[in-house]
Amino acid sequence: MISKVEEAVQLSDSMGASVSALGGFTSIADNASGAIVAKAASKMRVTNGTAATSIMTVEGIKKLCDETGIELAESTISIIGATGSVGRTCATYFRNRVKKLILTGRNSTKLNHFFGDWPITENTLIELTSQNQYAIAEADIVIFVTSSTKTLCSEEDFKPGAIVCDVGFPKNVTTANLNRDDIVIYAGGLAQPPGEMKHADLWGLPSNNMIYGCFAEAIAVAMEGCFECCSSDSENIPIEKLRKIKHALFKHGFIVPPFMNMRKVYTTVDFENIKDIVRKNKMR
Ligand SMILES: NC(=O)c1ccc[n+]([C@@H]2O[C@H](COP(=O)([O-])OP(=O)(O)OC[C@H]3O[C@@H](n4cnc5c(N)ncnc54)[C@H](OP(=O)(O)O)[C@@H]3O)[C@@H](O)[C@H]2O)c1
Repeated sequence: MISKVEEAVQLSDSMGASVSALGGFTSIADNASGAIVAKAASKMRVTNGTAATSIMTVEGIKKLCDETGIELAESTISIIGATGSVGRTCATYFRNRVKKLILTGRNSTKLNHFFGDWPITENTLIELTSQNQYAIAEADIVIFVTSSTKTLCSEEDFKPGAIVCDVGFPKNVTTANLNRDDIVIYAGGLAQPPGEMKHADLWGLPSNNMIYGCFAEAIAVAMEGCFECCSSDSENIPIEKLRKIKHALFKHGFIVPPFMNMRKVYTTVDFENIKDIVRKNKMR
């Protein structure tokens, strides 16, 4: 597998690309493998795309909270697959901004390695668990960032009014039936690029006017020339790098795309519905 990525990196390098993003192959570019892949390019920089994917995930959730009246500071967020690259970056962002953060992973040693010493702060209660179903059922906002090749749940598993951001590829949540109008399930971590693109069928995305956050990262880094922002390490991305990539993304016209999945585009009618549920929940 690594040799195929190396080959692709060498090809892009020879064609004159200045940055290559590894996207869904992030996990194999951690640690020693990351160094091997990055060395395959002589001039081109290699980045894992985690930063922009996480930034677009967070920005999408903030926007949707505004649309639906969910107060982040009062909410419970569950991150399913928090031990991964995107999961850790999102967890770091939400750490002191929500009421409760539930972080799941298959491997409890990893969970403890990354989050075991996170204090129970004044603002946020942190819970670590390997029970995805528990975390899914508890949360107002659920972020899926696992590398699972199978879907992990369906729409019945969420509580009324839930916002479900599915960053995973292949998708972690099945939208095969989609009968509920009291939740929002959308493909997250994506960016709407400036200008028009025609590719949705090829890349498995819900629409033409969106690309994977990791692709957006490579483009924005190249346009801005902030090559020092490229990441291929397994530790947390420094906040300064995240700031620079966010700046580059928005400066060059990338925005949060419409909230949608393969079967539905959400509109203000859907958001008003959620708003009503959130309002009723608050009065209880
Ligand atoms: N939207 C985008 O632009 C974009 C960009 C990059 C990546 N992605 C997708 O986003 C997802 C996360 O990417 P990543 O780079 O953060 O991957 P990663 O570093 O490999 O992390 C994935 C994490 O998911 C965990 N996991 C796997 N199955 C699980 C399960 N059943 N329950 C709980 N945790 C589980 C893994 O834990 P273990 O350690 O136990 O394996 C791992 O920590 C992937 O599906 C990737 O394809 C999307």
